Amino acid sequence: METNNSIQFLRGKKVTLRPVVKEDVPRFLVWINDPDVRQYLSMYLPVMEADEQAWFENLSKSKETDIVFLIIADDQPIGCMGIHRINWKDKTAITGAFIGEKKYWGKGYGTEAKMLLLNYAFNSLNLRKVCASVLSFNGRSHAYQLKCGYKEEGRRKQQVYKNGRYWDEIFTAVFKKDWLPLWRKYRKTNLR
Ligand SMILES: CC(C)(COP(=O)(O)OP(=O)(O)OC[C@H]1O[C@@H](n2cnc3c(N)ncnc32)[C@H](O)[C@@H]1OP(=O)(O)O)[C@@H](O)C(=O)NCCC(=O)NCCS
Repeated sequence: METNNSIQFLRGKKVTLRPVVKEDVPRFLVWINDPDVRQYLSMYLPVMEADEQAWFENLSKSKETDIVFLIIADDQPIGCMGIHRINWKDKTAITGAFIGEKKYWGKGYGTEAKMLLLNYAFNSLNLRKVCASVLSFNGRSHAYQLKCGYKEEGRRKQQVYKNGRYWDEIFTAVFKKDWLPLWRKYRKTNLR
């Protein structure tokens, strides 16, 4: 039977990435309100169904600058990943992601999804530089960004209050020219 998860936009080995559909909205509510997930994200207020619905309604209007994908593994949505604030003049953007199904953390799903996303950003959208940020206590996210070729560009000291104290915000970025050799190697080792 055809399901929403049969839709494939970017295809890897462990994951596929597809556009968001309205049936995904309730799942986002579960993921994004979960304190274990939320602690790593910028949101800190309860996210209501109406908020998510409005966000979803806006997605198709803003796709010139913001592109969001669901990450599918084992035929189930496990999280999402996006390219945001696309600047067509400077050829830059920022990426963000979370895996809401926590049993999938730390098993290479994020890295594969991010490499597929960067392949799309660099080799389809023709972006030049992709940026991201991560809170200093989020070792896993920092590590997977470095694995995908991002490098630290700077830090805002004690910028964000989470879990009872202030944390540094680390700014990272990857240039297409530095990422291409990494992609060739990753594709050969992990996607064949
Ligand atoms: C960040 C996230 C998308 C990464 O995806 P993932 O599938 O868990 O990441 P991967 O398994 O591909 O890579 C994680 C790497 O970090 C390493 N790692 C895990 N915990 C770590 C820690 N505390 N410190 C340093 N490295 C760590 C893992 O060993 C792995 O590297 P390896 O493959 O060389 O062993 C996912 O963990 C997630 O959604 N976390 C919660 C929300 C979040 O943090 N979002 C990002 C906000 S910036």
